Amino acid sequence: GKALFTTNCAGCHQATGQGVPGAFPPLANHVGTLLAAQGGRAYVEHVVLYGLNGKISVNGKTYNGVMPAFGQLKDADLAAILNYVSTSWGNKLPKGQKPFTAADLAKYRQDKKTPAQVNALRPKTVK
Ligand code: HEM
Repeated sequence: GKALFTTNCAGCHQATGQGVPGAFPPLANHVGTLLAAQGGRAYVEHVVLYGLNGKISVNGKTYNGVMPAFGQLKDADLAAILNYVSTSWGNKLPKGQKPFTAADLAKYRQDKKTPAQVNALRPKTVK
């Protein structure tokens, strides 16, 4: 997971998961919160498969960027990345959630969402 994150994600979200203020949102101390929210797990899986654009708010700061899709990666690789992210830099899997599996990602491959449709899946409670 870590090596795949370094190659595919750290260029924007940084090796520390802190992101870049105003440009790339932090994943540190944040993805655990997303996962704990209603619909958050499905949302995060869609973000890596299909990318994301449009306004989001993270810890009171607005981002309105474009994240590319990573659907070219294998389901098992996306699962490994999400398992790394959700257990690093202050994040932990919410109680009762199992680690991500390839089958979890495969389930959403049929959806064919646009990055804007992924934005609409974001839990409204995370601001
Ligand atoms: C948003 C993860 C790669 C730029 C997000 C979010 C997650 C995430 C979970 C949603 C945050 C939220 O809703 O609060 C990842 C992972 C990556 C990756 C796991 C690698 C597979 C990248 C790369 C870039 C990028 C390479 C830059 C080219 C962004 C931007 C947003 C974002 C700009 C916010 C989009 C918006 O404002 O609508 N990322 N990311 N990400 N990511 Fe990534």
